[in-house]
Amino acid sequence: MGDLPLEVKVDIPNGKSYTQPTGLFINNEFVYPKDKKTFEVVSPSTEEVITSVYEAKGEDIDIAVDAAIEAYKSWSISAPETRQKVLLKLADLVDENADLLASIETFDNGKSLQNSKGDIALTAAYFRSCAGWCDKITGNVINTGGSHFNYTQRVPVVCGQIIPWNFPILMLSWKLGPVLATGSTSVLKSAEQTPLSALYMAKLLVEAGMPKGVVNVVSGFGKIAGAAISAHMKLDKVAFTGSTLVGKTIMKAAADSNLKKVTLELGGKSPNIVFDDAKIDAAVQHIIAGIFYNSGEVCCAGSRVLIQSGIYDKVVETLKKAVEDIKVGDPFNPETFMGAQVSEVQMSKILQYIESGKEQGAKVITGGKRSEGKGYFVQPTVFGDVKGHMKIAKEEIFGPVVTLIKFDTVDEAIEIANSTEYGLAAGIHSTDINKCIGVANRINAGTIWVNTYNDFHPMVPFGGFHSSGIGREMGEEVYHEYTQTKAVRIKLDTTGFK
Ligand code: NAI
Ligand code: MG
Repeated sequence: MGDLPLEVKVDIPNGKSYTQPTGLFINNEFVYPKDKKTFEVVSPSTEEVITSVYEAKGEDIDIAVDAAIEAYKSWSISAPETRQKVLLKLADLVDENADLLASIETFDNGKSLQNSKGDIALTAAYFRSCAGWCDKITGNVINTGGSHFNYTQRVPVVCGQIIPWNFPILMLSWKLGPVLATGSTSVLKSAEQTPLSALYMAKLLVEAGMPKGVVNVVSGFGKIAGAAISAHMKLDKVAFTGSTLVGKTIMKAAADSNLKKVTLELGGKSPNIVFDDAKIDAAVQHIIAGIFYNSGEVCCAGSRVLIQSGIYDKVVETLKKAVEDIKVGDPFNPETFMGAQVSEVQMSKILQYIESGKEQGAKVITGGKRSEGKGYFVQPTVFGDVKGHMKIAKEEIFGPVVTLIKFDTVDEAIEIANSTEYGLAAGIHSTDINKCIGVANRINAGTIWVNTYNDFHPMVPFGGFHSSGIGREMGEEVYHEYTQTKAVRIKLDTTGFK
C-alpha cells in the first residue's frame, strides 16, 4: 500500500505489454489519492491479480469535483468546433488503439476478445456521432407578442457518472460522449471490478486535446466513492448504470443532498418472443445473441424466451444444437464467443440461480454447470418447462442462462412479456410486419427489437420503463439529459421607435 507507482507494466496473456496508469485522473494528471490506498484488480479468466490501482474516497471526489467545476467555466462556453475536434480525435485514437484496448478489456473483464472488439468499434462510432452533435445543441425563440423577446438556451452540467463492469469502455463512451459534446464536465467512477480500461482511456483523452479537468476518472468502490458522488452538494447531475437496487440508493442520495438531476440505466428481464411464423434459424441466432453475448452480462439480455406452441419443439431442438456449438473458454482465443463471468461473486450468483431453477422443477436442456478448470466460466444454460412463478423466470440473473416459456396466442405472449417489474427491452420474431408492429405497440419497454436483438446504433435512444430506469442514453434525447433549459425573457422598450 502506498508504494505502487503511478504507472505499471502489464503483460497480457496474448503477448501484448503496455503501461497501465494506476492513479486517479484529475486535471489531466494521474495523482495519488489522499490516503494512498490501493485495491487489487483480478483477471476473471486466470483468477490472477493483474495489478493494483489507487482507490478514491470522499475527499478525493471533492478534489475531482472542484476540478470539473473549474474546467466548466471555459469548456461550457467553448466553441462547438473545439469540442468536435476533441471527440473526432478521440474516436481516431480509439480506432488506432483498438487491439490494445480490446485486450485490456478482455484481460480485466473476462469477456471474449471478439466481444471486446465489438465494444471498441461501437465506442469509436459513438464518439463520432457525438462529434456531429456539438453544433446542433440549440434553443428556441418564443413569440409572446411585441412587448417581450424570449429565448431558451441548453445549459450543460457538471456531473458525476458511475459505470458498471459489464461494458467498461462502451459505458464510458455512452457517458463521456454527451459530456464532451454538450460542454458539460464530469467525474466518472469506473466499477471496482474493471478499472483498467477507463484509466487507459483517460490517457487518450489527454492525447485528444481535452482541456484539464473536463473529465476526471477515478477508480473506487460504490459505497465509498460512488456514494460520495451521488450525495455531492456541488454536482448538477448523476448518471448511473448498474443494478436497480443501487439505482434506488443513488436516487435517494440525490434527493437528500441537492436534488441533482438523475439518470438511471438499470436492470431487466427482457422477453424475446418467437412467433409460429418466424424464420427459425434466424430467430435462434438472435436468441443466442440476446442471452449469450457478453456471457449474458447485459442489462437488456433477452433472458425470457417466449416461443409459440406450433414451433416450440423445433426451436428447442435447433437452439440446443446451436448452444452446444458455442465456443466457451480462453477469451483471447479468436474463436471464443463466450469468455468468463466478471468475478467469483457474479459466477456464484449465477450458479445459485441455476440450482434454484433445478429445485423449482425447470428442465435443464443444456449446460447448467461451471466449466472445468481455472477461471469463472459458466456453461451457456437453457432451461425448458419454465413457469412464471419460478425465480429464474422473474429475477435478473445477469449470466448465460435463458428460460424458455411456451405460449399459444398473441394476447398470452403480451401478457407474459409485460408481467415484469422491468421494461428495458424486448424482441419480436415474426415474418408478419403487421403482427410485429401490433405487438411492439403493446409491449412496455424502452427498446423493441424486431427480427434482431442486442442491436445498437448511436442515433437510436436506449433506456428503460418502470424499474429499468429513468432517462435515455444515445440518440438525440441524451443531449437533453446533459443540459438544462434556461429561459431568458426580455422586456422591450420600443417607445423610442417611430
Ligand atoms: P452495482 O449496481 O453494485 O454496480 C454498478 C456500479 O455502481 C459500480 O460502479 C459500483 O461501484 C457502483 N455502486 C455500488 N453501490 C453504490 C452506491 N451505494 N452508491 C453509488 N454507487 C454504487 O452492481 P454489482 O453489485 O456489481 O452487480 C450486481 C447486479 O447488478 C448484477 O448481477 C446485475 O444484475 C446488476 N447489474 C446491472 C448492470 C446494468 O448494466 N444494468 C451492470 C452491472 C450490474
Ligand atoms: Mg477485473
